[in-house]
Amino acid sequence: MPADLADVVAEVGREMEAHRGEGRVADYIPALARVDARRFGLAVVTCDGRTAEYGDAWVPFSIQSISKVFTLTLALKRQGEALWTRVGREPSGSRFNSIVQLEAERGVPRNPFINAGAIVVTDVVLDGRGFDAAVADIRDTLRELADAPNLDIDTEVARSEAATGFRNYALANFMRGFDNLKHPVEDVLQTYFNQCALRITCRQLARAGLFLAAEGLDPLSGRRVVSPEHARRINAIMMTCGHYDASGDFAFKVGLPGKSGVGGGILTIVPDQAAIAVWSPGLNDVGNSQVGTLALERLASRMRWSVF
Ligand code: DON
Repeated sequence: MPADLADVVAEVGREMEAHRGEGRVADYIPALARVDARRFGLAVVTCDGRTAEYGDAWVPFSIQSISKVFTLTLALKRQGEALWTRVGREPSGSRFNSIVQLEAERGVPRNPFINAGAIVVTDVVLDGRGFDAAVADIRDTLRELADAPNLDIDTEVARSEAATGFRNYALANFMRGFDNLKHPVEDVLQTYFNQCALRITCRQLARAGLFLAAEGLDPLSGRRVVSPEHARRINAIMMTCGHYDASGDFAFKVGLPGKSGVGGGILTIVPDQAAIAVWSPGLNDVGNSQVGTLALERLASRMRWSVF
């Protein structure tokens, strides 16, 4: 008999109580450093409209790099396959903010989920408009997908990202030097910092990612978000590149497409079935949520959700 989702979510959640507070909270900006390390939230939304939640599933946290899934969605809609002339789709094997590969590869980042790649993707989202309009489009897309009209940007986080984002400035200027950024570095990065500063709950994030579990069609609203081909590609890149240089380990342990952020969130897709969002702010050495990864490993295993 298949495991009951609500039972498994409750069981995994209870098991995580003993792990609350593990890992190291990101401390490069004050607004992230002061988040309580003991937070833990888990939410699952299924393609047939069921939900299961545990713990802090309704507490907003900083979306950070998980936003890269949604900007990639917008960029693919705008530019289609031409996007792949400007950004690759190979795992980088490097840290998320590494600059070393960029010179050898002439300013074309390895994939859309390392910072350099996400900055190129954001440049595409900016095409034909100013950064205010691009930021509003990203926010409104999330509001609609998450069914959360009040979802918004944490302006303190956005300002702090800009004040400390020296590596991102280096990456962006370097790529502009290779003519792989079309808009002014400041506009691209202001958009990028704002997208990373969106605040979202597990429940909203799982809801927002559901279209990726259903071939690009939001199964609850009936709205087409992207083509089935693009949804498959986004999932493939989440599987191979969603956890930076620990992407192989995530595929090994969880066996599902996933994208992490330094706020401690992870969005995970179960093709044809569900979207999962987990949040626990303590990160492991690679910058992925430590307890969040453990929870996903147990949930995916007990639900037999691994794609392998
Ligand atoms: O670009 C940065 O440094 C952050 N705002 C986003 C980084 C992030 O979430 C990487 N994740 N694991």
